[in-house]
Formats: sequence, C-alpha cells, structure tokens
Amino acid sequence: MAAGLTGTIAAAPHPVLRMEGMTVSLGPPGRRVRVVEDVSLRLDRGRILCVVGESGSGKSVSAMALMRLLPEGANEVAAEALEFEGTDLRALDERAMTRLRGDRMAMVFQEPMTSLNPVFTVGDQIGETLRVHRGLSAAEARARALAALRQVQVPAAERRLDSFPHELSGGLRQRVMIAMALACEPRLLIADEPTTALDVTIQAQILRLLLELRDRTGTAILFITHNLGVVAEIADEVAVMYAGRVVEQAPAATLFSDAQHPYTLALLAAMPSLSGTVDRLEPIPGRMPAPGTAPPGCRFAPRCPFAAEVCREQPPLREMGPNHRAACWRAPVDRLATGLAA
Ligand SMILES: Nc1ncnc2c1ncn2[C@@H]1O[C@H](COP(=O)(O)OP(=O)(O)O)[C@@H](O)[C@H]1O
Ligand SMILES: [Mg+2]
Repeated sequence: MAAGLTGTIAAAPHPVLRMEGMTVSLGPPGRRVRVVEDVSLRLDRGRILCVVGESGSGKSVSAMALMRLLPEGANEVAAEALEFEGTDLRALDERAMTRLRGDRMAMVFQEPMTSLNPVFTVGDQIGETLRVHRGLSAAEARARALAALRQVQVPAAERRLDSFPHELSGGLRQRVMIAMALACEPRLLIADEPTTALDVTIQAQILRLLLELRDRTGTAILFITHNLGVVAEIADEVAVMYAGRVVEQAPAATLFSDAQHPYTLALLAAMPSLSGTVDRLEPIPGRMPAPGTAPPGCRFAPRCPFAAEVCREQPPLREMGPNHRAACWRAPVDRLATGLAA
C-alpha cells in the first residue's frame, strides 16, 4: 500500500491537500451539532496555509476531521473531496489511515505534554515513530532520532535523547514534538497553535525553524493560529474562519493589504502592531455564536457594522481578486466608515 501510494504521488501533480465543502457534526447520534460547515482548503507542496480565527471557530475540529482523530462514534464528516496527494482519504481503512498519520501526514499540537509520553525518553519516542513507520532497527532509529533533534536545533542533542519530557523546557518539548513529526519527512505537517504556549522569543525561533524546514524539504504546512502576527510571519495563503465557516481566503499579502470581509477587518484592527504597541487594539464587540446557535444567514451579521437586510441569507464565497474570496454580500466595504481600517 505504501509503495503504491508513493508511486501515485510521484506521477501525479496533485495538491498535497484538497478539501472541498467539508462539514463536520459532533455529538452522539441524534444530538449532533454542526461545528464546521462547507470548508474548502487547498495546499500545494512547499506552501504554508494559515487558518486563522478566534477561539471556537472550528480550526482544530477541521484539522482533526482531516486526520480522522475526532472522538469515535461521535462525529460525522461529509465532504465533496478530502484528498491527500490525490488519494481519497475517506476510502482508506483505519490501518491505512494510521500508517499515514505520523508518516506522510504529521501533526504538532499546542501542548506537547498531551502528546509526549511521560514514561519514555525523547529518543525512544522519536525512535518509536521510525521503527513503526519505517521498520528501522533500534540502533538505526536512535541515530535518526539524534539527527532529527539536531535538525530542530536542540542543544546537546545526544544528551537530550535520554531525557524524559518533564526534564525539558516548554520550548524544547515543542522542538521534540516537531522533530518527532518531521522524523519521517511528512508531505503535510499540520501545526495546531504550536507556539501559543511559548514566549515570543521561542515562538519566533520555532517559526523560523518551520520556514527553514519547508524550504529544505518542500513539506506543505497547514498552520492553525488565532494570532495574525504569526500569520504575517509565515503564511503564503490565509483562510479566515468564523463560527465554523471560512469567511475569507487570500494570499497573505492580499489579506493584509486588501481584506474585504468585515470580520477580517475587525481582526486586523484588533491586531497589536508589529512593534508591540497596542494602540490599535480594537476588541470586536459581541461574541461568536456557539455551534448550532447562529442565526440564519451570515453568522457575523449580529456583530457587523455593515449588516443589512441581505445578510439574512448566507453569503457565498465570492471572487474579490486573484485567489481572493470573501463571503460577504456587502464587500467591498468602505472601511473608513467604521474605524475598522488598520
Ligand atoms: N468533541 C467535541 N464535541 C462537541 N463539540 C466540540 C468538540 N470539540 C470541539 N467542539 C466545539 O466545536 C467548536 C469548534 O472548536 P475548535 O475547532 O476546537 O475551535 P478552534 O477554532 O478554537 O480550534 C467549539 O464550539 C467547540 O466547543
Ligand atoms: Mg483549536
């Protein structure tokens, strides 16, 4: 299976990720709530796509649905397409999916302690991935684990191989997680708020590391964050999520210079300036609706200064420019009219 998959990959110019119209409902059967709706994402080799939006907008659930990591029996995922390098993920059985995860598709979470096993050394944990996915011997796995730690610039890597997770700082643990995710040279790395718990200096180092790895290996990265400052640092493309839907999609430069959705504008207005001063900080009044409680129509309308009669209907994503789409009936809007202009 793995060999066949590799053959297909080499021959076909498929995007690394193609997600079309994905909808995710969570909860026990009969009491499911729609948490993610009609999300389409595409990611090519060597690109970094940032999914951004405030807490609860459905970013993690989207990633977990893609990796098939949602609670078993309590989720329902529907999509027009869910493809990894041209392979329909929905056609893979559990074994094939397990083989993909941690191998060609890897994931790094916000809190490494939830993913690192406290009773095994760092070297054993990275080595385990390589033994399982690549069939390496214990000695080979240890040598590769050491190389992986050096790749993510863990100081005194040889000594760290025999450390337990609790003996490391938060920044080092996150590096170990990334080393583990990258040990098998994945085609797709999903990083879910990987730097949120870290101080800004360590965060900057990790972002630089991911950029270097992308440049060297061509790994495509789906980077989830609520922080537009992080987006500015690393994104090629951006998808903005609000209450389970993508409301705007654009190349990163376009998003920062020419955002069209009032929610994106509000996020930009609330973003601290890069110098670290917060004089532009404009909290968005109101709250994002919980899943299943949004009014019909545009979910941002109750908070939107541009809301009008037409917004009672769900706006589709419309073309705003090259590779730029926004789900807003009122776009393009006059930003100066609202003080939302950054
Ligand atoms: N296992 C679950 N069961 C029910 N609801 C969930 C579950 N996991 C997440 N949710 C809800 O789904 C919504 C989206 O969550 P999430 O994707 O984690 O948001 P975020 O954008 O912060 O990553 C939230 O309202 C959250 O409460
Ligand atoms: Mg999340």
